[in-house]
Amino acid sequence: MSRIVIVSNRTPGKGPAAGGLAVALRKTLAEREGFWFGWSGRLVEQPSSEARFEDVDGLKVAQVDLTRQDHHAYYAGFSNSILWPSFHLRLDLATLDSTWYEGYRRVNQQFARALLPLLKADDIIWVHDYHLIPLASELRALGARNRIGFYLHIPFPTADTLYAIPNHLDLMRDLSRYDLVGMQANRDVAAFTEFAEHQSPASISGDPLQSVDFSRTEVDAFPIGSDPDAFARLAVSPAATKMVNRMRRVLGDQRLIIGVDRLDYSKGLPQRVEAYEKLLTHDARFRRQVHFLQVAPPSRDTIKEYQETSETLDSICGRVMGRFAELDWQPLTYVKRAYGQPSLAGLYRLARVGLVTPLRDGMNLVAHEYIGSQNPADPGVLVLSRFAGAAEIFDAALLVNPFDTDETAEALRLALDMPLDERISRWQTLMAAARAHNIDDWSRSFLDRLAPASRNGSGTRDILYLASVA
Ligand code: G6P
Repeated sequence: MSRIVIVSNRTPGKGPAAGGLAVALRKTLAEREGFWFGWSGRLVEQPSSEARFEDVDGLKVAQVDLTRQDHHAYYAGFSNSILWPSFHLRLDLATLDSTWYEGYRRVNQQFARALLPLLKADDIIWVHDYHLIPLASELRALGARNRIGFYLHIPFPTADTLYAIPNHLDLMRDLSRYDLVGMQANRDVAAFTEFAEHQSPASISGDPLQSVDFSRTEVDAFPIGSDPDAFARLAVSPAATKMVNRMRRVLGDQRLIIGVDRLDYSKGLPQRVEAYEKLLTHDARFRRQVHFLQVAPPSRDTIKEYQETSETLDSICGRVMGRFAELDWQPLTYVKRAYGQPSLAGLYRLARVGLVTPLRDGMNLVAHEYIGSQNPADPGVLVLSRFAGAAEIFDAALLVNPFDTDETAEALRLALDMPLDERISRWQTLMAAARAHNIDDWSRSFLDRLAPASRNGSGTRDILYLASVA
């Protein structure tokens, strides 16, 4: 059986993994020989030229340290202040600092130099996410001839937005150095194809730029999923029940609406709270009858746009509290903290409505996890943004335009009033879709496409799996 190497910006830590993706990639590595490669989380004076291996709960993880300066340019800078906002179509929130690209490139070179000596000639490599787009180019420049795949966990931008990203042509050329590029949704593949087929931007001098040759790169949608049956079990586990009992004491007879997201401007959190405010404004019968719980662990909080989103949300939540709270009733609970998967699964099951309304999202695994956690005899309703990749799979959810807070408020009302038989039939369709897109099949289908011979034991290839976790 072939060996697999996974490469990502962040590597898994000890203890229970936070996200479904980390769990799935761990599982893939547990089934196959290989290792995980990425940043150690350490910032140092001198960048490490060699990777250090560590055993993380039985998983082999090779890590490199970065300098503070490189890390800033690569992570907070080019990755999260240029690529992240632009790929989410938020050019208004991008900071086009031309000095960051060099740091981004340098870190990718450092990764490639440290990884190369660990590779066997026939290893297969899977690289994940926008931090590491240039990695295949850098490995190939050092002589690597391995099969290399790339998976983009975030949306792919429209052609116009892509042209606005500095160095976009380099990045597209970097993508063309992969054998396989995986995207979350068909809409992403369509956007990529539009660029690939119509690329003809002119340079500053007016000369047409050289176009990128994608003839050796396969591009396809591989929608990521979760393990919905594991969530079903987790939702009734003792740890989940403990959390549910705590929350039940607070709720009494009120129905729960839940949102769980990293505190990120792409998640549409202010719009979501505004939609809830409209529900309470327009339909007074819901006051004292519903409670909105928003869990939002802080994220990338050294970046100004994230700080501003956090402040905006503080102020909107404060406004809704001031407007509707009474001495013995609070309309919402807003928690800026992360909870473990068992607690979340319990809360998802308890919630009559799962409110998943990003302005744009690669997939959104909270939607999958909410569905998996429901009680089949009394399931809740998923209100889902049509701009999440998940909307391509879950058309039995109440799909909303998250920018239109009236529409989201109306979807909330429909969800809260929905009769049991409709909730059950919608949920059954959603659960079937979640099962059909489970995370094990996701990684298997990507790897099968990247290295067909690697799974039947007859191939001589090892597989290297390079990832950055969503
Ligand atoms: C998204 C990205 C991931 C990233 C995660 C957490 O899901 O696709 O690559 O790891 O967010 O963000 P952070 O910046 O904390 O790694």
